[in-house]
Amino acid sequence: MSDSSTPFSLAGQSDVRHHLHPYTQLRQLEKEGPLVIVRGEGVQVFDENGKAYIEGMAGLWCASLGFSEQRLADAASRQMATLPYYHSFSGKVPGPVTALVEAMIRWAPVPMARVLFANSGSESNDTAFKLVHYYNNARGRPQKKKIIARNKAYHGVTVAAASMSGIATMHQHFDLPIPGVVRVSCPHLYQYGLPGENETQFVDRLAQELEDTILREGPETVAAFIAEPVQGAGGVIIPPPGYFASVQAILKKYDILFLVDEVITGFGRLGQAFGTQVFDLKPDMITVAKMLTSAYVPMSALYLTDEIYQTIADTSAAVGVFGHGYTYSGHPLACAVALETLRIYEADDTIAHVQQVSPRLQQGLRKFATHPLVGEVRGLGLIAALELADDPARRKPFGVQHGVGAYFVTRAQAHGLIVRVLAGDVIAFSPPLIITEAEIDMLLERVQLALNDTLAWVKTWR
Ligand SMILES: Cc1ncc(COP(=O)(O)O)c(C=O)c1O
Repeated sequence: MSDSSTPFSLAGQSDVRHHLHPYTQLRQLEKEGPLVIVRGEGVQVFDENGKAYIEGMAGLWCASLGFSEQRLADAASRQMATLPYYHSFSGKVPGPVTALVEAMIRWAPVPMARVLFANSGSESNDTAFKLVHYYNNARGRPQKKKIIARNKAYHGVTVAAASMSGIATMHQHFDLPIPGVVRVSCPHLYQYGLPGENETQFVDRLAQELEDTILREGPETVAAFIAEPVQGAGGVIIPPPGYFASVQAILKKYDILFLVDEVITGFGRLGQAFGTQVFDLKPDMITVAKMLTSAYVPMSALYLTDEIYQTIADTSAAVGVFGHGYTYSGHPLACAVALETLRIYEADDTIAHVQQVSPRLQQGLRKFATHPLVGEVRGLGLIAALELADDPARRKPFGVQHGVGAYFVTRAQAHGLIVRVLAGDVIAFSPPLIITEAEIDMLLERVQLALNDTLAWVKTWR
């Protein structure tokens, strides 16, 4: 039955016939049909039958202000009525861009000179990839182009962004990665630590691997290193202490740019404005998206240092134009919503709220560390993961054929909680930043129920 308050009657079967669903096992979906979400209220969303779910992922790590922020709806409506569209090409600009850029520069975690807009994290990371080439060509170093990216990185799905990502299904059959991307390990001790290796030894080994990789490729050919402060879609991987300090020392030694992908972590997810502050990073470019607009309107951006900007500007003068931009770069609707989102973060002190409530989530989830299905609990701020394991003591995962994480997700959903399973039976949590302690308690209760159900089911076949 359709919710009469929504303008659309969304029949799941019709959707299955015509919609190609992203990141879905399509044959399974043809049989089971999608979950149709029709309405949101605070941290909850409602399906077409009126069932409520706590959105434990804020959608795709993005709806920071929940699903019913009236101030954003009002800002959007005002902008639609004033100037619904204009562009930023050839010296023009829609009005709200200027105020947004000023606000974003104020928010920047390290001094940044320019902001270049796009419409998705993928596009902005693709742009970063292109600018690395542009910059080094302009500086007379055409051989310095390779980009080092990490296993399990997620930087998006456009050609360069997917190539920089380190997840097998993003490459298989797409003929990716493209040449010029070099892979190193990700800093996940639980999965990749050697027997008996401690955090310091692990960090030293990864630093050595990075330096060896640069020397093997030739430092004169390596242009940039790209990293998420906390790897999200690859499994919510929190780097061990000292990891980024070691990495950055090596990048500096070989004159390698540091591209920091803050698409998930930007604007408060980790309890500080940016992961750059949490891990004391010195980026040359920063990608942001998602929580920039609380995801209410698509928008992303790339922050650039003055040094990079000056090189680009000189080149545009030499060739006649900076030959890059999207029809919707700096779209006025997105600008108005982003500006209002940043105002709300400031007015409501959203980051202080994250600092206040996040221990409830982190400590609450860590209570499941001794559950017989849980191998590792990890997280920071309002992002976290439970990694399920067949034999937690030996860090032995379940076989993929069992779909244990997927089963957990369906049970959580039955209990009114939406979470996401990542490869390796990792259950991810990334709720809206506005979540309260009482709502976190409800979320944790539903996790407990789903874990119990999953254990009972595992016992039927193990
Ligand atoms: C760290 C990171 N970078 C980039 C992207 C790609 O963003 P989009 O899906 O907006 O293209 C994502 C998406 O989840 C992400 O998590």
